[in-house]
Amino acid sequence: MGVTRRLPATVEAALRERFDVVQPESQGTLDPNELIALMQDCDALLPTVTDHLDESVLGAGGGRCRMIANFGVGVNHIDLEAAKRAGIIVTNTPDVLTDDTADLTMALMLAVMRRLGEGERAVRTGTWDGWHPTQFLGRRLTGKTLGIVGLGRIGRAVAKRAESGFGMKVMAWSRSKKRGSEAATRIERVNRLDDLLEASHVVSIHCPLVATTRHLISTAQFAKMRREAVLINTSRGAVVSEEALVAALEDGLIAGAGLDVYEQEPVVHPGLLSREDVVLLPHLGSATVETREAMGMRALDNLEAHFAGREPPDQMT
Ligand code: DGY
Repeated sequence: MGVTRRLPATVEAALRERFDVVQPESQGTLDPNELIALMQDCDALLPTVTDHLDESVLGAGGGRCRMIANFGVGVNHIDLEAAKRAGIIVTNTPDVLTDDTADLTMALMLAVMRRLGEGERAVRTGTWDGWHPTQFLGRRLTGKTLGIVGLGRIGRAVAKRAESGFGMKVMAWSRSKKRGSEAATRIERVNRLDDLLEASHVVSIHCPLVATTRHLISTAQFAKMRREAVLINTSRGAVVSEEALVAALEDGLIAGAGLDVYEQEPVVHPGLLSREDVVLLPHLGSATVETREAMGMRALDNLEAHFAGREPPDQMT
Protein backbone atom coordinates (compact mmCIF):
# COMPACT_ATOMS: atom_id res chain seq x y z
CA MET A 1 0.00 0.00 0.00
CA GLY A 2 1.50 3.37 -1.04
CA VAL A 3 0.63 6.24 1.30
CA THR A 4 1.77 9.62 -0.04
CA ARG A 5 1.68 11.76 3.16
CA ARG A 6 1.97 11.34 6.92
CA LEU A 7 -1.50 10.71 8.39
CA PRO A 8 -2.85 10.84 11.96
CA ALA A 9 -1.05 8.22 14.09
CA THR A 10 -4.21 6.16 14.66
CA VAL A 11 -4.81 5.95 10.92
CA GLU A 12 -1.22 4.99 10.15
CA ALA A 13 -1.37 2.30 12.85
CA ALA A 14 -4.62 0.88 11.47
CA LEU A 15 -3.22 0.84 7.93
CA ARG A 16 -0.01 -0.88 9.04
CA GLU A 17 -2.02 -3.52 10.91
CA ARG A 18 -3.73 -4.60 7.70
CA PHE A 19 -1.28 -3.73 4.91
CA ASP A 20 2.37 -3.51 4.04
CA VAL A 21 2.73 0.26 3.95
CA VAL A 22 5.24 2.09 1.76
CA GLN A 23 5.42 5.73 2.83
CA PRO A 24 7.94 8.41 1.84
CA GLU A 25 10.08 9.70 4.71
CA SER A 26 9.62 13.35 3.82
CA GLN A 27 6.59 15.44 4.79
CA GLY A 28 6.51 17.14 1.38
CA THR A 29 4.46 16.43 -1.71
CA LEU A 30 5.57 13.85 -4.25
CA ASP A 31 6.46 14.82 -7.81
CA PRO A 32 4.96 12.94 -10.79
CA ASN A 33 7.92 10.55 -11.06
CA GLU A 34 7.73 9.67 -7.36
CA LEU A 35 3.98 9.04 -7.69
CA ILE A 36 4.52 6.82 -10.73
CA ALA A 37 7.24 4.88 -8.88
CA LEU A 38 4.99 4.35 -5.85
CA MET A 39 2.17 3.09 -8.07
CA GLN A 40 4.54 0.71 -9.89
CA ASP A 41 5.37 -0.92 -6.55
CA CYS A 42 2.04 -0.97 -4.72
CA ASP A 43 -1.37 -2.59 -5.23
CA ALA A 44 -3.16 0.54 -4.03
CA LEU A 45 -2.38 4.18 -3.45
CA LEU A 46 -3.71 6.39 -0.65
CA PRO A 47 -3.18 9.98 -1.88
CA THR A 48 -4.42 13.35 -0.68
CA VAL A 49 -5.58 16.56 -2.35
CA THR A 50 -1.93 17.64 -2.84
CA ASP A 51 -1.13 14.72 -5.17
CA HIS A 52 -1.80 15.58 -8.80
CA LEU A 53 -2.81 12.30 -10.35
CA ASP A 54 -3.30 13.60 -13.85
CA GLU A 55 -2.74 12.10 -17.29
CA SER A 56 1.03 12.57 -16.92
CA VAL A 57 0.97 10.15 -13.97
CA LEU A 58 -1.96 7.86 -14.77
CA GLY A 59 -1.02 7.67 -18.45
CA ALA A 60 1.97 5.59 -17.30
CA GLY A 61 -0.55 2.81 -16.68
CA GLY A 62 -0.48 2.57 -12.91
CA GLY A 63 1.92 -0.40 -12.69
CA ARG A 64 0.68 -2.77 -9.97
CA CYS A 65 -1.76 -0.20 -8.63
CA ARG A 66 -5.42 -1.10 -9.16
CA MET A 67 -6.99 1.25 -6.62
CA ILE A 68 -6.69 4.90 -5.56
CA ALA A 69 -8.29 5.35 -2.13
CA ASN A 70 -8.30 9.13 -1.82
CA PHE A 71 -8.02 10.65 1.66
CA GLY A 72 -10.66 13.35 1.12
CA VAL A 73 -13.98 13.94 -0.58
CA GLY A 74 -12.86 16.21 -3.45
CA VAL A 75 -11.24 14.38 -6.35
CA ASN A 76 -10.46 17.22 -8.78
CA HIS A 77 -6.76 16.38 -8.38
CA ILE A 78 -7.40 12.94 -9.92
CA ASP A 79 -8.15 12.51 -13.62
CA LEU A 80 -11.01 10.02 -13.22
CA GLU A 81 -11.15 9.21 -16.94
CA ALA A 82 -7.41 8.51 -17.07
CA ALA A 83 -7.78 6.29 -13.98
CA LYS A 84 -10.58 4.37 -15.69
CA ARG A 85 -8.47 3.92 -18.82
CA ALA A 86 -5.66 2.54 -16.65
CA GLY A 87 -8.12 0.11 -15.00
CA ILE A 88 -7.78 1.77 -11.59
CA ILE A 89 -10.79 2.31 -9.35
CA VAL A 90 -11.05 5.52 -7.32
CA THR A 91 -12.77 6.03 -3.98
CA ASN A 92 -13.19 9.10 -1.76
CA THR A 93 -14.31 9.85 1.81
CA PRO A 94 -17.69 11.62 1.77
CA ASP A 95 -19.92 12.38 4.80
CA VAL A 96 -17.25 12.29 7.50
CA LEU A 97 -16.06 15.86 6.88
CA THR A 98 -19.44 17.48 6.26
CA ASP A 99 -20.04 18.92 9.73
CA ASP A 100 -16.53 20.26 10.26
CA THR A 101 -16.44 21.91 6.85
CA ALA A 102 -19.86 23.46 7.47
CA ASP A 103 -18.68 24.71 10.89
CA LEU A 104 -15.62 26.31 9.30
CA THR A 105 -17.81 27.95 6.67
CA MET A 106 -19.87 29.62 9.42
CA ALA A 107 -16.64 30.68 11.15
CA LEU A 108 -15.45 32.35 7.93
CA MET A 109 -18.78 34.15 7.48
CA LEU A 110 -18.53 35.55 11.00
CA ALA A 111 -14.84 36.36 10.60
CA VAL A 112 -15.45 38.43 7.47
CA MET A 113 -18.71 40.08 8.54
CA ARG A 114 -17.39 40.98 12.02
CA ARG A 115 -13.82 41.82 10.90
CA LEU A 116 -12.18 39.29 13.19
CA GLY A 117 -8.90 39.12 11.24
CA GLU A 118 -8.39 42.87 11.39
CA GLY A 119 -9.29 42.99 15.08
CA GLU A 120 -6.95 40.15 15.96
CA ARG A 121 -4.09 41.73 14.01
CA ALA A 122 -4.62 45.04 15.83
CA VAL A 123 -4.42 43.37 19.24
CA ARG A 124 -1.34 41.32 18.36
CA THR A 125 0.56 44.19 16.77
CA GLY A 126 -0.18 46.54 19.64
CA THR A 127 -2.03 49.06 17.45
CA TRP A 128 -5.29 48.63 19.40
CA ASP A 129 -5.79 51.75 21.52
CA GLY A 130 -8.82 50.56 23.50
CA TRP A 131 -12.58 50.38 22.89
CA HIS A 132 -14.36 53.15 21.11
CA PRO A 133 -17.84 53.43 19.66
CA THR A 134 -17.01 53.39 15.97
CA GLN A 135 -14.14 50.95 16.00
CA PHE A 136 -14.10 47.89 13.72
CA LEU A 137 -17.79 48.10 12.96
CA GLY A 138 -18.78 45.07 10.95
CA ARG A 139 -22.07 43.80 9.63
CA ARG A 140 -24.58 41.58 11.44
CA LEU A 141 -24.82 38.01 10.12
CA THR A 142 -28.05 37.14 11.91
CA GLY A 143 -31.11 37.55 9.70
CA LYS A 144 -29.21 38.12 6.45
CA THR A 145 -29.77 36.25 3.16
CA LEU A 146 -27.34 33.42 2.40
CA GLY A 147 -26.90 32.15 -1.16
CA ILE A 148 -25.53 28.63 -1.38
CA VAL A 149 -23.89 27.64 -4.66
CA GLY A 150 -23.99 23.84 -4.80
CA LEU A 151 -26.50 22.12 -2.57
CA GLY A 152 -24.74 18.86 -1.77
CA ARG A 153 -24.01 17.46 1.68
CA ILE A 154 -21.88 20.39 2.84
CA GLY A 155 -24.15 23.01 1.29
CA ARG A 156 -27.12 21.52 3.13
CA ALA A 157 -25.19 21.36 6.43
CA VAL A 158 -24.32 25.05 6.05
CA ALA A 159 -27.95 25.87 5.24
CA LYS A 160 -29.08 24.11 8.42
CA ARG A 161 -26.64 26.05 10.59
CA ALA A 162 -27.41 29.38 8.93
CA GLU A 163 -31.14 28.90 9.22
CA SER A 164 -31.45 27.46 12.69
CA GLY A 165 -28.46 29.16 14.31
CA PHE A 166 -28.47 32.57 12.67
CA GLY A 167 -32.05 33.01 11.43
CA MET A 168 -30.77 33.51 7.89
CA LYS A 169 -32.92 33.27 4.81
CA VAL A 170 -31.31 30.61 2.64
CA MET A 171 -31.39 30.47 -1.14
CA ALA A 172 -29.62 27.80 -3.17
CA TRP A 173 -28.54 27.23 -6.73
CA SER A 174 -27.23 23.95 -7.96
CA ARG A 175 -26.19 22.53 -11.33
CA SER A 176 -28.13 19.40 -10.48
CA LYS A 177 -31.87 19.94 -10.33
CA LYS A 178 -32.25 16.88 -8.10
CA ARG A 179 -34.37 17.78 -5.06
CA GLY A 180 -33.14 16.65 -1.69
CA SER A 181 -34.10 17.05 1.93
CA GLU A 182 -34.59 20.82 1.67
CA ALA A 183 -38.34 20.13 1.90
CA ALA A 184 -37.67 19.93 5.64
CA THR A 185 -36.06 23.38 5.60
CA ARG A 186 -37.07 26.70 4.11
CA ILE A 187 -34.33 26.75 1.45
CA GLU A 188 -35.50 28.62 -1.63
CA ARG A 189 -34.17 26.92 -4.77
CA VAL A 190 -33.49 29.29 -7.66
CA ASN A 191 -33.01 28.28 -11.29
CA ARG A 192 -30.72 31.16 -12.23
CA LEU A 193 -27.41 31.73 -10.46
CA ASP A 194 -27.82 35.45 -11.14
CA ASP A 195 -31.00 35.54 -9.03
CA LEU A 196 -29.06 34.16 -6.07
CA LEU A 197 -26.12 36.54 -6.61
CA GLU A 198 -28.41 39.57 -6.79
CA ALA A 199 -30.27 38.70 -3.56
CA SER A 200 -27.58 37.37 -1.21
CA HIS A 201 -25.63 39.17 1.52
CA VAL A 202 -23.36 36.15 1.76
CA VAL A 203 -22.57 33.88 -1.20
CA SER A 204 -21.03 30.58 -0.12
CA ILE A 205 -19.46 28.12 -2.58
CA HIS A 206 -20.08 24.39 -2.08
CA CYS A 207 -19.96 22.83 -5.55
CA PRO A 208 -17.14 20.50 -6.59
CA LEU A 209 -14.50 21.67 -9.05
CA VAL A 210 -15.29 20.12 -12.44
CA ALA A 211 -14.93 21.52 -15.97
CA THR A 212 -18.29 23.31 -15.79
CA THR A 213 -17.64 24.95 -12.40
CA ARG A 214 -14.10 26.26 -13.12
CA HIS A 215 -14.34 30.06 -12.72
CA LEU A 216 -18.09 29.77 -12.19
CA ILE A 217 -17.72 32.96 -10.16
CA SER A 218 -15.88 35.52 -12.25
CA THR A 219 -16.18 39.12 -13.46
CA ALA A 220 -19.79 38.86 -14.71
CA GLN A 221 -20.94 37.18 -11.48
CA PHE A 222 -19.23 39.75 -9.21
CA ALA A 223 -21.00 42.47 -11.18
CA LYS A 224 -24.35 40.91 -10.20
CA MET A 225 -23.59 40.80 -6.47
CA ARG A 226 -24.70 43.32 -3.89
CA ARG A 227 -22.05 45.86 -2.93
CA GLU A 228 -22.30 44.86 0.73
CA ALA A 229 -22.09 41.13 -0.09
CA VAL A 230 -19.27 38.84 0.95
CA LEU A 231 -18.02 35.72 -0.81
CA ILE A 232 -17.08 32.59 1.13
CA ASN A 233 -15.26 29.64 -0.46
CA THR A 234 -14.53 26.40 1.40
CA SER A 235 -14.88 24.19 -1.70
CA ARG A 236 -12.13 24.48 -4.30
CA GLY A 237 -10.21 27.63 -5.19
CA ALA A 238 -10.61 27.46 -8.95
CA VAL A 239 -14.42 27.67 -8.76
CA VAL A 240 -13.70 31.38 -8.23
CA SER A 241 -11.43 33.44 -10.49
CA GLU A 242 -8.98 35.00 -8.02
CA GLU A 243 -8.06 37.62 -10.61
CA ALA A 244 -11.72 38.65 -10.90
CA LEU A 245 -12.17 38.51 -7.11
CA VAL A 246 -9.26 40.88 -6.52
CA ALA A 247 -10.65 43.27 -9.15
CA ALA A 248 -14.14 43.09 -7.61
CA LEU A 249 -12.73 43.93 -4.17
CA GLU A 250 -10.58 46.74 -5.54
CA ASP A 251 -13.54 48.22 -7.43
CA GLY A 252 -15.84 47.94 -4.42
CA LEU A 253 -18.23 45.57 -6.23
CA ILE A 254 -18.36 43.37 -3.11
CA ALA A 255 -17.47 44.05 0.53
CA GLY A 256 -15.20 41.15 1.43
CA ALA A 257 -14.28 37.50 1.10
CA GLY A 258 -13.44 34.55 3.30
CA LEU A 259 -11.32 31.90 1.60
CA ASP A 260 -10.11 28.50 2.76
CA VAL A 261 -9.05 27.34 -0.70
CA TYR A 262 -7.05 28.84 -3.59
CA GLU A 263 -6.52 28.33 -7.28
CA GLN A 264 -2.84 27.29 -6.99
CA GLU A 265 -2.38 26.11 -3.40
CA PRO A 266 -0.29 26.95 -1.47
CA VAL A 267 0.20 30.08 -3.59
CA VAL A 268 -2.25 32.88 -2.81
CA HIS A 269 -2.94 35.72 -5.26
CA PRO A 270 -0.76 38.65 -4.08
CA GLY A 271 -3.71 41.01 -4.51
CA LEU A 272 -5.49 39.20 -1.66
CA LEU A 273 -2.64 39.12 0.84
CA SER A 274 -2.58 42.80 1.69
CA ARG A 275 -6.34 43.33 1.95
CA GLU A 276 -8.02 43.84 5.33
CA ASP A 277 -11.45 42.88 3.94
CA VAL A 278 -10.52 39.28 3.27
CA VAL A 279 -9.94 36.43 5.71
CA LEU A 280 -7.51 33.80 4.42
CA LEU A 281 -7.25 30.31 5.91
CA PRO A 282 -4.91 27.45 4.92
CA HIS A 283 -7.40 24.81 3.63
CA LEU A 284 -8.68 23.94 7.11
CA GLY A 285 -12.22 22.72 6.28
CA SER A 286 -11.73 19.14 7.44
CA ALA A 287 -8.87 19.88 9.86
CA THR A 288 -10.07 18.43 13.15
CA VAL A 289 -8.63 15.39 14.88
CA GLU A 290 -12.03 13.72 14.72
CA THR A 291 -12.52 14.26 11.01
CA ARG A 292 -8.99 13.47 9.86
CA GLU A 293 -9.16 10.17 11.77
CA ALA A 294 -12.60 9.45 10.30
CA MET A 295 -11.32 10.21 6.79
CA GLY A 296 -8.49 7.73 7.27
CA MET A 297 -10.83 5.04 8.59
CA ARG A 298 -13.21 5.62 5.69
CA ALA A 299 -10.34 5.22 3.21
CA LEU A 300 -9.38 2.04 5.06
CA ASP A 301 -12.96 0.68 4.76
CA ASN A 302 -12.78 1.24 1.02
CA LEU A 303 -9.41 -0.50 0.77
CA GLU A 304 -10.57 -3.46 2.84
CA ALA A 305 -13.70 -3.88 0.75
CA HIS A 306 -11.67 -3.82 -2.47
CA PHE A 307 -9.13 -6.37 -1.27
CA ALA A 308 -11.91 -8.60 0.06
CA GLY A 309 -13.42 -8.65 -3.43
CA ARG A 310 -16.37 -6.41 -2.56
CA GLU A 311 -17.33 -3.10 -4.16
CA PRO A 312 -15.90 -0.30 -2.00
CA PRO A 313 -18.67 1.80 -0.42
CA ASP A 314 -17.35 5.05 -1.91
CA GLN A 315 -16.33 3.86 -5.36
CA MET A 316 -16.45 6.68 -7.91
CA THR A 317 -15.18 4.97 -11.08
C1 DGY B 1 -11.47 17.23 0.86
O1 DGY B 1 -11.76 16.22 1.51
O2 DGY B 1 -11.75 17.34 -0.33
C2 DGY B 1 -10.75 18.32 1.57
O3 DGY B 1 -10.69 19.49 0.83
C3 DGY B 1 -9.36 17.87 1.95
O4 DGY B 1 -8.80 17.24 0.88
